[in-house]
Amino acid sequence: MSSGTSSFDSSWLALRESADAAARASELLGPLRDALAPDEPLVIWDLGCGTGALGRWLSGRLRGPQHWILHDHDPELLDLARKNAYVTADGRPATIETRGGGLESLRASDLVGASLVTASALLDVLTAAEVEAIAAAAGCPALLTLSVVGRVRLSPPDPLDAEIAAAFDAHQRRDGLLGPDAVAAATEAFGRRGASVRTRPSPWRLGPGQAALTAEWLRGWVAAAVEQSPGLGPAADGYLRRRLDECAAGSLIVEVHHLDMLVLPGSSA
Ligand SMILES: C[S@@+](CC[C@H](N)C(=O)[O-])C[C@H]1O[C@@H](n2cnc3c(N)ncnc32)[C@H](O)[C@@H]1O
Repeated sequence: MSSGTSSFDSSWLALRESADAAARASELLGPLRDALAPDEPLVIWDLGCGTGALGRWLSGRLRGPQHWILHDHDPELLDLARKNAYVTADGRPATIETRGGGLESLRASDLVGASLVTASALLDVLTAAEVEAIAAAAGCPALLTLSVVGRVRLSPPDPLDAEIAAAFDAHQRRDGLLGPDAVAAATEAFGRRGASVRTRPSPWRLGPGQAALTAEWLRGWVAAAVEQSPGLGPAADGYLRRRLDECAAGSLIVEVHHLDMLVLPGSSA
């Protein structure tokens, strides 16, 4: 899951899909549509596609014809992704292909012919070198969504919130991963190449209607914090029990703040 561990199982991705859809910054779609060539078929790359949730949301919001290239380093997720049946805003079926491999080896030659590069819940699990590789390769608009920013708010508050959040953020930055620094790093990497970058908030707001997602997020959030700061152990166990009880009672609200980025290359800015 993106709350701190390095592999992403399909059940976690399914659990978060509707919260992601509700959070997405739809106001970036108008400027994105304006930046896409009006009459050409769209070739859309989804980097770190998982099971293809972003395409399930975006394909019907853009005109057709569309060809999607779903890219991920996890072959099991790609097997699920290739079963998607996307339909465009004008009711045409999109075509789909999948590509395996890591983003560290992405080259500009891979993205030749791309109309749009997309990603969702990806940048914060990458290194600066991987974000540089995306910025160097993408010569077209890019919609890079749902990057965590290191701001989480739980209501009611608990004295341990800040300590868990700080340990979680440190865990996200482990081994050179960007974690909450991802949007700043990507803005810098694209900006250096003359692109314009707009960011808009895309927070999860999780209440009683999202109890299953909230509980799973809490377990992952606290586990990552404890992995980072083992000294939190017993206090964190009690914290998690309290928070799960509040979640089950419908009295917990969680906000997880993200940013969506629309990147337009120099000439279309
Ligand atoms: C949090 S999941 C998001 C999946 C999907 N975009 C979604 O929103 O449901 C991150 C995805 O990025 C993939 N990923 C992470 N690092 C990668 C890398 N270096 N190269 C290729 N794929 C990567 C993971 O396998 C996973 O599918």
